[in-house]
Amino acid sequence: MIAALPFTAYAMGESVQPQDGALKVLGHDEISFKKDVQPILHDHCVSCHQPGGKGYVKSGLDMTSYEGLMKGTKYGPVVIPGNSDVSTFTKLLTGTNKGLKMPMGLNATGTLDRQYILTLRKWVAQGARNN
Ligand code: HEC
Repeated sequence: MIAALPFTAYAMGESVQPQDGALKVLGHDEISFKKDVQPILHDHCVSCHQPGGKGYVKSGLDMTSYEGLMKGTKYGPVVIPGNSDVSTFTKLLTGTNKGLKMPMGLNATGTLDRQYILTLRKWVAQGARNN
């Protein structure tokens, strides 16, 4: 199963955060908000989703903290613990909400790395805990 995935090559090299995350995603391990999720948000979302950033200004979604993420936008929550299919937070990563896709600014076919999408989805599916 692992061999079919494109990031296997990395997994055999030096072990750093995202690769560990990729392997975790395949097994039954628990995803950690602090160790797995937050680094992804920091690198790919927070630049716009922090006070003053354009994602924050437009939607009210602040992803600099667990509390901010769980609070959601000015219209309500984007994370529905236990359900990554209905959570806007994870739905927008593959662009299934009125053409809106995150992180904003990707080309038509672009998405966040698949391993990151899987990590975020799994974290939501496991209950979106502040772990
Ligand atoms: C380049 C800036 C930018 C980046 C990077 C970015 N966003 Fe956004 N985001 C926006 C903007 C702007 C909006 C408001 C869109 C709108 O309402 O039209 C938004 C809105 C959202 C919303 C709320 C959508 C709704 O239902 O109103 C979610 C959820 C979201 N972003 C998730 C993410 C995630 C997750 C990431 C990282 C993977 C991310 N964003 C990265 C700019 C960004």
